[in-house]
Amino acid sequence: MDWQTWHDDYDDPTSTLSRRLKAVQGQIAAFFDAAPPGPISVLSLCAGQARDIFGVLPTHPRRHAVPPRLVALDPRNTAIATETARGLHTEIITGDAGNTTNATQSDLVLLCGIFGNIPDADIKRTIDLAPQLTTNTIIWTRTRRRPDLVPTICAWFEQHHFTRTWLSSPTEDFGVGVHRLTTPPQPLQPDQHLFTFTR
Ligand SMILES: C[S@@+](CC[C@H](N)C(=O)[O-])C[C@H]1O[C@@H](n2cnc3c(N)ncnc32)[C@H](O)[C@@H]1O
Repeated sequence: MDWQTWHDDYDDPTSTLSRRLKAVQGQIAAFFDAAPPGPISVLSLCAGQARDIFGVLPTHPRRHAVPPRLVALDPRNTAIATETARGLHTEIITGDAGNTTNATQSDLVLLCGIFGNIPDADIKRTIDLAPQLTTNTIIWTRTRRRPDLVPTICAWFEQHHFTRTWLSSPTEDFGVGVHRLTTPPQPLQPDQHLFTFTR
C-alpha cells in the first residue's frame, strides 16, 4: 500500500473516504465546541496527512488551545502535514504509532484508518489499552464491509467503561464511532505494543 496516494480518494467529495472524513471532522468539531475552557490535548495515531484535524482546527475558535500531537510513519505524509500545519502549534512525529512510546495521554484521541488495517487481536489490544491513551474521548473508524466488526468494537470499548456518544448510521459504508471514558484514566505505560499494520 502506498500510504501517500491512499489519500487521493479524499479529492473526490463523493467518495466513501470523503464522507467518512466529514463525519470525523464533525465529531472533532463537536468535541472542541463542548470542551471546557483551557488547553485541549489531542493525539492522532497513524495520522497520515491529518486531513481530519486540519479540516477543523484552522477555523475553530479553540484552535489556540489545541497543540495536537500527530504520529505517522510515512515521511511524505508528515511533510504534507507539516506544510498544512503552518501557523498552527502542532507536534508532528514521523515514527511508529503502533507502540505507546510516541503517545501521550490526551483528551481527544483519533484512531482513524487503523482498525481496518490491523488484525482483530490488535484492535482488541488497542482498545484494552485505550483507558491509558485518553482522559476523555476516542474517535475511531472501521469499514462496514462484512464481516462488520463495528458492533464488536463498540462492545470492546464499552467493556472498558467507555460510553458511546455517537455512531455513524449502519446504512453508511463506513463506520465512525465516538466513545467517552467514564472512569479515571490509567497511567500511560511506555513501550507497549498496540498494533501492526497488515498492509
Ligand atoms: C488508512 S491511513 C489513515 C490516515 C489518517 N488517519 C486518515 O484517516 O486520513 C493509515 C496511515 O497509517 C500509517 N501507518 C501505518 N503503520 C503505522 C505505524 N506503525 N505508525 C504510524 N503510522 C502508521 C500509514 O502510513 C498511513 O498514513
